[in-house]
Amino acid sequence: MRFVLFLLVLVISATAMADSLLGLPVLSIPDDNPQTEAKIALGRQLFNDKRLSADGAISCASCHQADKAFSDGLPLAKGINGQLGTRNTPAVQNAAYYQSQFLDGRAASLEQQALGPLLNPIEHGLKDPQAIIDILQNEPDYSAAFSRVFAIQSGELTVMHVQKAIASFERTLISGNSAFDRYHFAMEQTAISAGAVRGSRIFRRKGNCLTCHEISMKTALFTDNRFYNIGVGMRNIKPVIEAWKQAVRQHQPPDTSSWSDAQRAELGRYSVTGRLEDIGKFKTPILRNVALTAPYMHDGSLQTLEQVIDHYDKGGEGNEFVDAKIFPLHLTEQEKSDLVEFLKSLTSLD
Ligand code: HEC
Ligand code: HEC
Repeated sequence: MRFVLFLLVLVISATAMADSLLGLPVLSIPDDNPQTEAKIALGRQLFNDKRLSADGAISCASCHQADKAFSDGLPLAKGINGQLGTRNTPAVQNAAYYQSQFLDGRAASLEQQALGPLLNPIEHGLKDPQAIIDILQNEPDYSAAFSRVFAIQSGELTVMHVQKAIASFERTLISGNSAFDRYHFAMEQTAISAGAVRGSRIFRRKGNCLTCHEISMKTALFTDNRFYNIGVGMRNIKPVIEAWKQAVRQHQPPDTSSWSDAQRAELGRYSVTGRLEDIGKFKTPILRNVALTAPYMHDGSLQTLEQVIDHYDKGGEGNEFVDAKIFPLHLTEQEKSDLVEFLKSLTSLD
């Protein structure tokens, strides 16, 4: 009996492995939100539906566009009535692998994250959770779909059902099996160019990129799910930071009332933890498809991959909070272009 069970476990794990793309670990699915075809289809519809916005012009897909690995090509996100947000739109492709969502990690799951943009006054701009329910309950196609997917009566619909459907759809936005994966994990020597091969070595050694953008034995997520200040954007808060730091040190409520929204957005991970050492820290992003998601960084301040490499090469924009793992790299021009070649080999839309 025990042996049969053992075999069964082997078969199940082999099937699960076969399901994941080359270079990616098996995706874990929360017990309380199993994937079903109907739920994924409902989530896809919600993700693309502009009716879920105050001006009827914005859906998740307005900012998270399929042909850009679900980012938008803009420095800062643009929401209802053309309003500009304070952060760059990250790729949602492979976001299912993050241990926390948003650039500062303020949401614990995709389910939790999904409510944020719907209620954000700049993004979808809906007034409160009830506004979301009101829109969906008045659409017969949605009422029927929610009843079917979640086995609920009309009138029992809550925003949690909406969040779950969207999250299930997002768990299908997975991309692996890039040229780099075929080179590195399937030993296809010619899958990437000689420059990209050299670049992958610099990524691991001289560039020190690997300490944060991890590659494991059998898979590569290119993130450690931690938060760092890599010296981007700190100049925006230089004029206001001293008084603020003083207050935080003295455990007084820091006054940011005179700060602009853009300056407040620079606080990064601090906004979640309230710890001074977390100022300006952002989550290490997954680098898959990074060639499709320019411009870069939380504030969209770097236009090209070449500029990103120059940023790292000079050791970031010096400030007292920059992480010790960021330091001048002294890369040659050849090494810089090899690194860019390597980053381009991480593109794959399957
Ligand atoms: C106006 C543009 C815009 C719209 C509309 C929008 N997003 Fe986003 N999205 C962003 C920006 C900007 C961020 C980063 C914000 C932050 O971290 O503070 C983000 C972050 C995310 C993340 C976290 C990714 C990560 O790297 O941590 C997910 C997941 C996501 N959005 C899904 C959605 C879903 C689902 C919807 C629709 C319900 C949606 N977004 C609507 C711009 C947008
Ligand atoms: C100390 C950890 C750390 C190291 C070392 C590091 N990174 Fe990053 N990387 C990050 C974080 C954190 C961000 C996001 C910062 C932000 O949004 O302000 C980032 C952002 C990026 C981005 C932009 C991604 C996007 O979608 O905006 C690229 C490309 C990148 N890193 C490549 C590299 C390369 C190449 C190296 C080595 C030369 C490297 N990183 C070294 C932590 C690190």
